[in-house]
Amino acid sequence: MEQGAPTAVEYTVRDRVAWITVNRPKKLNALNRATVQEITVAATRAIDDPDVAVLVLTGAGEKAFVAGADIGEMAAMDARQGQDFGRFLQSSFDVLERSPKPVIAAVNGFALGGGCELAMACHIRIAGENARFGQPEVGLGLIPGAGGTQRLQRLVGRGKAMELILTGDMISADEAHRIGLVNRVVPAAELRTRVAAAAAGLAAKSPVALARAIDAVMTGGDLGLDDAMRLEAALFGLCFATSDMKEGTSAFLEKRKPEFSGT
Ligand code: CAA
Repeated sequence: MEQGAPTAVEYTVRDRVAWITVNRPKKLNALNRATVQEITVAATRAIDDPDVAVLVLTGAGEKAFVAGADIGEMAAMDARQGQDFGRFLQSSFDVLERSPKPVIAAVNGFALGGGCELAMACHIRIAGENARFGQPEVGLGLIPGAGGTQRLQRLVGRGKAMELILTGDMISADEAHRIGLVNRVVPAAELRTRVAAAAAGLAAKSPVALARAIDAVMTGGDLGLDDAMRLEAALFGLCFATSDMKEGTSAFLEKRKPEFSGT
C-alpha cells in the first residue's frame, strides 16, 4: 500500500478517521484473497496508529460496497481450499469486529455475500439509500462462509436471517434498516459527509471507554448472561482507574467539554 504501488485497497487518514476503501470497482469490489489481506493490513495499521480514532470501510465507485467474495477465484477451489478460504475470511473480518476502535461500514451500493458479511463485521453500518444487501450464495451452490450464517441471525433474528440466506433475495437499504441490519440510511450523495460526521462524534469520546464498550458488547454477547454481566462489571470497574473517567466526570460537573487523553 505504499504510494504508487498497485493496490486493491486505498488508505487515507483525515481528521483522525482512517478511510479504508476497497478499490476494484470494475469487479464491483469483489474480495479476492489479496484484497482481503490488504484490508487486514490497513485495519491493523489504523488500529496501531495513535493518531487514528475511528475506522471507516467503504467501496470505490458508485455502484458497490463489495459484491461478494471473488467468484472467479473461488470457482477453482476444492473442498480443502474452500474451507481454508472461509477460515481466512472469518479471521480477517474478526480483526475488524475485535478492533478496539469503532469501525463504521459506509455502504455505498451492493453489499452482497462476503460484502454483506464484511459490513456485518463492522460495529456500525450507515447505508446510502442506493445500497442493496443480500446473501445470494445458495444461487452459486454455496452458503455464506465469512460469518454470515452467524452474524446475520445475531443482528436480525433467526427467522429473517434464515429467509435471506435460503432465498438469496436482495433487499433495499430501507428494508435493511427496518429489520435492523443497518443503523441508518442517508441520501447516497451525502454518505461520505454523514459518515464523517458520525465518525467525528465517536472520535470525541473516550477511546478507552469505547474500547471497553466494544469488548463488553462483543465478548459478552457470546457468553451466558451471568458471565456476561460479570464481564460488564469488570470492564465498568476498570474505567474508574482511567484518566478519561476522571476527565469525563469532571468536565460534566464543571459544565465544559471533556478533553480525553485515552489513558
Ligand atoms: N466476484 C467476481 N466478480 C464479480 C462479482 C463477484 N462477487 N460481482 C461482480 N463481479 C464482476 C462481474 O463479473 C463483472 O465483471 P466483467 O465486467 O469482467 O464481466 C463486473 O463485476 C460487473 O458486474 P455485472 O456486469 O454483473 O454488473 P450488474 O450491474 O449487471 O450486476 C450484481 C451487479 C447483481 C451485483 C452482479 O454482479 C452479481 O450478482 N454479482 C455477484 C454477487 C454474488 O453472488 N455475491 C456472492 C459471492 S459468494 C460469497 O461472497 C461467498 C462468501 O460468503 C464469502
